Amino acid sequence: MSIKVSVYIAASLDGFIARRNGDIDWLTGGESGEDYGYAEFMSTIDHVVMGRNTFEKVLTFGGWHYEKKVIVLTSRNLTLAPDLTHKAEALHLPPRELLQELERRESRHIYLDGGVTIQRFLREDLVDEMTITVIPILIGEGLPLFGKLEKDVKLELSKSESFENGFVQNRYKVLR
Ligand SMILES: NC(=O)c1ccc[n+]([C@@H]2O[C@H](COP(=O)([O-])OP(=O)(O)OC[C@H]3O[C@@H](n4cnc5c(N)ncnc54)[C@H](OP(=O)(O)O)[C@@H]3O)[C@@H](O)[C@H]2O)c1
Repeated sequence: MSIKVSVYIAASLDGFIARRNGDIDWLTGGESGEDYGYAEFMSTIDHVVMGRNTFEKVLTFGGWHYEKKVIVLTSRNLTLAPDLTHKAEALHLPPRELLQELERRESRHIYLDGGVTIQRFLREDLVDEMTITVIPILIGEGLPLFGKLEKDVKLELSKSESFENGFVQNRYKVLR
């Protein structure tokens, strides 16, 4: 498949992307004005693909912060607010079929978001690159970034950067 699939996500040092109830109150650091490469990354993206749980969290932030079209993966009948109908779309497709569909739409690079969603794509060997910003905090329990795998996933570190506030951002290429 020629479409590139990238993850760009923040996780606690103990590997969680949110508390069990979905809270990301521990995920602070945006106040400094530093964007941790987000704008540069987003400029390379054609579609954002996220799980329904992440989409529902995004809606609680108020406003809409994506310039690129967002695909929400869900098995439910999701009714999008009228102001979002041109900005977001709900699809119920398995990962490989979703990528084929986005390729048909001439997408070259997608941003994959949401723990369960990332885990599904990883299990099907469909992730190309992962940028993980490690937040210097242990939260003990929560929603995990990674989960069970049928086989090991080998990674190659392509970039590592640390920030004054202790965030460490690692970029990995997924080896096949
Ligand atoms: N730390 C960070 O940078 C970061 C980034 C993103 C999200 N988060 C947090 O993570 C939490 C959400 O992550 P999550 O692990 O719970 O899950 P998620 O990946 O956002 O959503 C999972 C849900 O998406 C739907 N889905 C996923 N793949 C599908 C497919 N191929 N076909 C149909 N439906 C599919 C399913 O829901 P249904 O079928 O039931 O609709 C599934 O339960 C939120 O609290 C969010 O704030 C944190």
